Amino acid sequence: MNQKNLYVLPILLCMFQTTTLFGQDKEGKKIFETRCASCHSGYIPEARLKENFFKKDNQLLHLKAPTINMLVYGIMRGPKKIGEPGDAEMRQAEIEAYLQEYLEEPEAGESLLSPAIGRYFHTPHPVIKLDENALAHLTKYLMHYAAEHQRGDGKVLKRHFDGAFDLPALLAEAKRSGKTLIVEVSSPLCHYCRKMDREVLNDPEIRRMLQEHFIFTELNVRSTRLPARLAQAYQHITPSFFFLSPEGKLLHSYPGSWTKTDFVLILRENLPGVEKH
Ligand code: HEC
Repeated sequence: MNQKNLYVLPILLCMFQTTTLFGQDKEGKKIFETRCASCHSGYIPEARLKENFFKKDNQLLHLKAPTINMLVYGIMRGPKKIGEPGDAEMRQAEIEAYLQEYLEEPEAGESLLSPAIGRYFHTPHPVIKLDENALAHLTKYLMHYAAEHQRGDGKVLKRHFDGAFDLPALLAEAKRSGKTLIVEVSSPLCHYCRKMDREVLNDPEIRRMLQEHFIFTELNVRSTRLPARLAQAYQHITPSFFFLSPEGKLLHSYPGSWTKTDFVLILRENLPGVEKH
């Protein structure tokens, strides 16, 4: 960990870039929450959405509009996605233009949603006028959301918590699925957190292990209160990784960022069932 002191300069240099590229856009989040969230609900896992629409005829969730992850999928990844993934700046402009057009004249264009799902939403879209500044923030927020939630193969790698973190609900899910729960404590300015995202957590072998055996969550310690039992073990270092067994026992905590080799070992140490041997 001492080694990190050597890297203070690059951290400072990267700070600006980190906040604009990887930080969540707070302003955009607020706009989404005040102008959109009354209809567009928060994240719901893909499997549950499929069950809701394709097996239960929307009677499970009674959604009146696409969830935020459905919107982000439509805009960023679906067959009618806006712009090209390679060029973030260009894409931001195209998404802003799309949102402006759609929100000012919702009936005009072609829907991004698959008709099989679109048919469940009957309310006509309200006309919403946003100024350029608000559109830019909203777009940044949605793009950041996509980067956090839908990397690579489109499966959710980790879920981001900003503001509220429901440990009992996540532990209940861990228990149901027999997976180990990982809580990564991070903060928006944590350079090493984003570096690990890019260089370690995006590795195919690590992704596979995470998706098969773990429920992976990331909690922004600046906005979210740590559950008491994690707060006790937290050493005020970001990132820190906490591993909780499907039975809810705190298995290990690992303060600091890790290389791929180390992180694979850490994951192996915390596979569900390992503690029993
Ligand atoms: C009063 C409820 C309501 C509010 C508020 C609302 N929406 Fe929607 N939105 C809907 C419904 C319903 C649909 C599905 C409409 C459809 O498929 O025709 C939808 C669909 C969309 C779509 C997908 C369009 C497509 O291609 O089918 C986008 C993008 C969207 N909304 C963005 C927003 C944004 C951004 C905001 C906030 C600034 C917002 N909406 C506020 C109800 C709402």
